[in-house]
Amino acid sequence: GTDAPADIRTLGYFINHLSLNVNNLTRSIEFYTSVFGMRHMFTYHLTPRLSFTYLTHSAGGRNGTGYQTTQELIRDKNNAAGAIELVHFSPRDKKDIEGPKTRTGTFSHVGIIVPNPKATQERLKEFGVRIYKEVGAEMPTEGPLSNPFYLGDATNLSEEEFEEIRVGMGKLNMLNIFAEDPDGNLLEIQPAD
Ligand SMILES: *[C@@H]1O[C@H](CO)[C@@H](O)[C@H](O)[C@H]1NC(C)=O
Ligand SMILES: *[C@@H]1O[C@H](CO)[C@@H](O)[C@H](O)[C@H]1NC(C)=O
Ligand SMILES: *[C@@H]1O[C@H](CO)[C@@H](O)[C@H](O)[C@H]1NC(C)=O
Repeated sequence: GTDAPADIRTLGYFINHLSLNVNNLTRSIEFYTSVFGMRHMFTYHLTPRLSFTYLTHSAGGRNGTGYQTTQELIRDKNNAAGAIELVHFSPRDKKDIEGPKTRTGTFSHVGIIVPNPKATQERLKEFGVRIYKEVGAEMPTEGPLSNPFYLGDATNLSEEEFEEIRVGMGKLNMLNIFAEDPDGNLLEIQPAD
């Protein structure tokens, strides 16, 4: 990237959260809290039908124990990076939100860092999480990873160009896990080192 400093007027800007539209709020809260140890910061009901939920990891805690109470998490809300917001709409007819029918889209994946991917992989299996690629495995030739990151038909590449990407992605992601959250969003799990 560039070594030039950012526009000084952007000092203090940072990405705080990404937001997912979820079909079943309970299911998504359970998934991200029990599988990945995120904490439920709050759920704000704008109306009986529309709610916003924030999940986050503790940000170190005040005393070095890595533990923060909910009050402390909330106080840190606008200082914390890496939060996930779950937007839940409860429609009149109870129909689920339709996801895209193909993997072509602008949303690619949620990236998560873990100290020990192999231990995490076992953990995902315990929770019955759908895994697309395990640590050390080749990139799959079927499913959402068969095309580079959901690009789907939008790529329209030749076989040679595709093969070049497949080989490169295989090497790049050798130590990574790819799995799925309850709404089918792709999760990329990388080792800390
Ligand atoms: C939502 O998820 C919870 C937890 O997984 C489950 O118990 C419940 O049956 C689900 N609700 C619907 C309407 O599927
Ligand atoms: C650290 O802070 C947490 C949250 O305030 C508190 O529950 C815990 O007892 C503290 N631990 C120590 C060792 O002071
Ligand atoms: C895909 O590429 C081929 C060959 O370059 C071209 O003829 C075709 O119009 C492209 N299709 C789309 C949908 O862009």
